[in-house]
Amino acid sequence: MRAAGQAAASVLNMIGEHVQPGVSTGQLDETCHRYIVDELQCIPAPLNYSPSRHQPPFPNATCISVNQVVCHGIPSKRKILRKGDIVNIDITVIKDGFHGDTSKMFLVGKPRAFAQKLVGVTQECLYRGIRAVRPGARLGDVGHTIQIHAEAHGYSVVQEYVGHGIGRKFHDAPTVFHFGLPNTGEKLIEGMAFTIEPMINLGTRHTRVLGDKWTVVTLDRKLSAQWEHTILVTADGFEVLTKRDDETI
Ligand code: MF3
Ligand code: CO
Ligand code: CO
Repeated sequence: MRAAGQAAASVLNMIGEHVQPGVSTGQLDETCHRYIVDELQCIPAPLNYSPSRHQPPFPNATCISVNQVVCHGIPSKRKILRKGDIVNIDITVIKDGFHGDTSKMFLVGKPRAFAQKLVGVTQECLYRGIRAVRPGARLGDVGHTIQIHAEAHGYSVVQEYVGHGIGRKFHDAPTVFHFGLPNTGEKLIEGMAFTIEPMINLGTRHTRVLGDKWTVVTLDRKLSAQWEHTILVTADGFEVLTKRDDETI
């Protein structure tokens, strides 16, 4: 799980310099896909991922979600990044049978102050959720911490999409809600691995899925941000399996 996590993290490090005005999300996906397969010798887990019979298999190696897209954005040659965009790139790789799942926000040019603030507060929501992880704590403590921080800034927490247990399976138990009440939910035990991946909206928490059956957008088309890490519960707290070198959590 450590090796899978670090492989996924390395893709986000690699792609940063490519996120520029004028580049398409399809090109970014292709660059990540090549790197995952050729350099890392890993499998991109989203490609052809088929979680339900109500959705077609996911068509790409990565999810790239721009501005009002909450998650599961489908990369496209026709979607060109512009100055001021905020972009989530979500990477999941399979290494030796284990999954590492992580995403971060990228700024294209210099987005407006309110957009940059949403991105920063959402990252802090993730970090506060992570810091609530230790044996004996409960998943409701994690969700509550995230919700309180988001709502303190007037933002809303998406409820329809959640963090998840992860390991040999991409999406496993438990369900990790990004909202909730302290002292509720499953108790954390050393050795559990799961993702925390809050999606925080500037306006309404409500979402809709586009006709492609994947792309999730905010109902009011206002901005949404997301950051994700894969976390291990350790004897004395947590280990961030997908941590990048530039991060202190
Ligand atoms: N990486 C996403 C997550 O964090 C899942 C993407 S599913 C896909 O759970 F099929 F869209 F790739
Ligand atoms: Co995930
Ligand atoms: Co992900």
